[in-house]
Amino acid sequence: MNAVNKQKTVFDINKIRADFPVLTRKVHGLPLVYLDNAATSHKPIQVIETLDRYYREYNSNIHRGVHTLSEEATAAYENARQKIRRFINASTDKEIILTSGTTESINLVAQSFGRSTLKAGDEIILSQLEHHSNIVPWQILCEQTGAVIKVVPINDAGELELEQYERLLGPRTRLVAINHISNALGTINPVRKIIELAHSYQAKVLIDGAQAVAHCVVDVQALDCDFYCFSGHKLFGPTGTGVLYGKRALLEAMPPWKGGGDMIRTVTFEKTTYNELPYKFEAGTPHIAGVIGLGAAIDYVNTIGIQAISDYETGLLEYATAAASTVKGMKIIGTARHKASILSFVMDGIHPHDLGTILDHHGVAIRTGHHCAMPVMDRYAIPATARASLAMYNTREEVDKFIMAVNAASQVFK
Ligand code: ALA
Repeated sequence: MNAVNKQKTVFDINKIRADFPVLTRKVHGLPLVYLDNAATSHKPIQVIETLDRYYREYNSNIHRGVHTLSEEATAAYENARQKIRRFINASTDKEIILTSGTTESINLVAQSFGRSTLKAGDEIILSQLEHHSNIVPWQILCEQTGAVIKVVPINDAGELELEQYERLLGPRTRLVAINHISNALGTINPVRKIIELAHSYQAKVLIDGAQAVAHCVVDVQALDCDFYCFSGHKLFGPTGTGVLYGKRALLEAMPPWKGGGDMIRTVTFEKTTYNELPYKFEAGTPHIAGVIGLGAAIDYVNTIGIQAISDYETGLLEYATAAASTVKGMKIIGTARHKASILSFVMDGIHPHDLGTILDHHGVAIRTGHHCAMPVMDRYAIPATARASLAMYNTREEVDKFIMAVNAASQVFK
């Protein structure tokens, strides 16, 4: 665990809620109960004001200008990179590539690392729990290289079948790409063990941490993952920001993926030389305000403490799961022993989309559908689930309102 995450903090739910302006709004005349945090989380005032200050006071391009505003913007941007590095305990800023989100981070690894190293017949191991953004980039890579995908199945509880995983590993395994926490079911995967096993076959491991960074401590050195990807907007930061952590030696060896400004050292029509890490992978003007805002989001999370957040959410999920067990006709999909803040479910006789619409009229925001994880739905032979996903600012009272709204919907369809 890194130094920042070890800090002792006090978890004051009222103070936290007061920092999120949107939580005071009403929907259909009722107080908003926002339970769609796995899709995106809300932003505290500290993040909103950071973006506002950037645009009001020092909006400027980075790494280019010699003028004051550009220097201020560059300093704030690089300062945010350092905050990200400390947050996940990477050893150097060179290992922190700033992207537009988890999806871009995974595509970068597929098209740079994957395309330059994989050959026909090489194997990529994914799991049945993956989000489409951790499936499709590998399928595209397989079409380009002739590599093949192997899939780790899940059991009825939504846990990876580790024995099957061990059987899939072999001398042709080049890469394992698996999520830390499933967005569709909330399963927390045993990533440390998955990484250790992959490394015993010299395979590299990419962890999709999109659902993890806001809910549990992430220490990339302790995990020993080769790549770790996440998005800023699920961590109380702006949309359009994301991170690819990669081990320095791997990133040094990888070719650039996108060409453009900032990623070069010299350009002539005969030959272009590339910039050093991390800039080699950062072509074009990035989401400067967003990255600085993500830095503010990390500061905010650090004042509460990610472990304190995790502990609070564990209690809230237990409360919600117990409450859900009292609702007639409600079946939870995904009952892993290790779960994080996600309650996916189906209701007898009510389509998830209808349920979502009725809940919205009670002020309760949930997501319904396949959650960009169609293979998970196929596993349970269902087209969709309703999903309530909790964050640090949710309360037991909100869970009660959610359960009341589900019961009310049940009455409508009786
Ligand atoms: N991947 C996000 C979700 O699970 C959008 O809702």
